[in-house]
Amino acid sequence: MSVHDGGNQPGSEKAGSEKAGPEKAGPEKAAIGGAKLARISIPELVARKGKDPIVCLTAYTTPMAQALDPHVDLLLVGDSLGQVLYGFDSTLQVTLDLMIAHGAAVKRGSKRACLVVDMPFGSYQESTEQAFRNAVRVMRETGCSAVKMEGGKDLAPTVEFLAKRGIPVMGHVGLMPQQINTLGSYRARGRAHDEAAAVMADAIAIAEAGAFSVVVEGVLEQVAQAITARVAIPTIGIGASADCDGQVLVAEDMLGLFGAYKPRFVKRYAELAGEISNAAASYAADVRGRRFPGPENVFGSLKKSS
Ligand code: KIV
Repeated sequence: MSVHDGGNQPGSEKAGSEKAGPEKAGPEKAAIGGAKLARISIPELVARKGKDPIVCLTAYTTPMAQALDPHVDLLLVGDSLGQVLYGFDSTLQVTLDLMIAHGAAVKRGSKRACLVVDMPFGSYQESTEQAFRNAVRVMRETGCSAVKMEGGKDLAPTVEFLAKRGIPVMGHVGLMPQQINTLGSYRARGRAHDEAAAVMADAIAIAEAGAFSVVVEGVLEQVAQAITARVAIPTIGIGASADCDGQVLVAEDMLGLFGAYKPRFVKRYAELAGEISNAAASYAADVRGRRFPGPENVFGSLKKSS
């Protein structure tokens, strides 16, 4: 998640109607026989290292996924949904079931972007086996292509365990919001030399363990640049550097849909909260003035009985 304190329509096939089996194969089944996958694949993203920037936004719901999918390479179902959608004060209350429900919703609303789902706090830190079991659930029940986990050197054995068993992992280093209680604040990391070195060591460990990419959140620009130059996998920055191999923002942040406070790393591309408020005010005035529903919004009069 990011620091939050302070159209593409679904394919011609109806969502949920993709059936396994040769005769009903949906777009993603097209790989059978060597054809290209309809969705951007993990190897395609890895091949973007040092090339065209990878465009990533978070999405938590089907309509948001439908709106974003044509424009992005990667949709991340981030555990930031805890704060953004549910009003929790951190990501720690987010559960695996919640992530799976939202991951499946985003899958139904997208057909092109690569889909990555965040593993929530407590679902992967206990052991490599726990991480594997829960990541399998996430992949099986959402249809995502990869999972994301926060952590550095200590997480490397887990990343390796999963990657060797067919689970692509996106790492997340720098500011790791699931560790808010040990960090004590959401401030940017890497201001002191030892902290910068620790973030770099985390990124290297995750990359060498087999992660396919790594989110670098809330670090000094120089640190993000150095990590991007040092690791062989794409870095996805948030509050990091334009030199990262890709960028991610929480969609609600960049749309002006979340929070009065705008962190420095967010650029607002719309002010939708204001639009929604104006629309609600117009609706309320129409209802109170009996202008809604109008003749075009009601069903005609009763037919005369013969
Ligand atoms: O939870 C989230 O949305 C994230 C991204 C902002 C990187 O981790």
